[in-house]
Amino acid sequence: MARTEANREFFDKMVGQVDYESWIKELVNQTNDALTARLDWFGIDWVKDKGKPGNQTKTLRLLDYACGTGYTTAIFGPYATFIRGVDVSPKTVEKYNDNNTIKAIREHADSAIAVVGDMVNDPTSESIINTPEFFNFDVVCTNYSLHHFDDAATAIERLAERLRPGGTFIAVDFVSSEGDSEMTGDFKAIMPVRGFSEGGLRAMFDKAGLEDFGFDVFTDNAKIPDHKSGEVHVRSVFVVKGKKRASSKLV
Ligand SMILES: C[S@@+](CC[C@H](N)C(=O)[O-])C[C@H]1O[C@@H](n2cnc3c(N)ncnc32)[C@H](O)[C@@H]1O
Repeated sequence: MARTEANREFFDKMVGQVDYESWIKELVNQTNDALTARLDWFGIDWVKDKGKPGNQTKTLRLLDYACGTGYTTAIFGPYATFIRGVDVSPKTVEKYNDNNTIKAIREHADSAIAVVGDMVNDPTSESIINTPEFFNFDVVCTNYSLHHFDDAATAIERLAERLRPGGTFIAVDFVSSEGDSEMTGDFKAIMPVRGFSEGGLRAMFDKAGLEDFGFDVFTDNAKIPDHKSGEVHVRSVFVVKGKKRASSKLV
């Protein structure tokens, strides 16, 4: 829980900065392009042609976990009819709910709203996140957040429990590399690792009951500045997908 608290504090403070850091803007644009180009690759029956809420023949329930201010909802939201965001940072959730892009998505997706919560460390609390509307999603995505969780394997298991059988789990994050040093200093409090390998993720997906594993690396790298040293860290970015086994029991 200490890491969750540290993340809450860090992202509550960071929320004002997110829109102004040029490397974040660039990464957001790259991620948008890379995921939009892969919409078919996910093998999801996205709702591309929909009417207004209440007049829809097809539905798609999307959970954006560790949703931040809404960048991922902005990408997948136009193809969903019901959207929930969850994040541990209250200020971030406030900004998500006040984001003009999200407001526009609400026109066609039943109340795309975010709430404060922690499905990873607090899966059985009395919180709203454990009510039925936060289960049985067609798609659960979590972008640039796996490296912030204490244990990514447990997080993937907890999030897979939120999918309907046959539903798809998606994550975007950084590829680990051989030369990665141990996390140290202030950042260790909010992220235990720098990234993940394809093999490591495959094993985690299998343990979480996710099959049809797919892993792809974006053409463009992330360029993350270290404001203290002036160095720029170049990182590969992956997108990973898996489907919840149809035989998995409903939670
Ligand atoms: C780097 S941001 C990514 C935000 C968003 N997914 C995006 O792509 O813009 C990581 C987010 O994870 C959230 N977070 C960290 N630990 C969490 C946890 N245990 N449960 C939910 N959210 C968490 C933080 O508050 C932060 O908003």
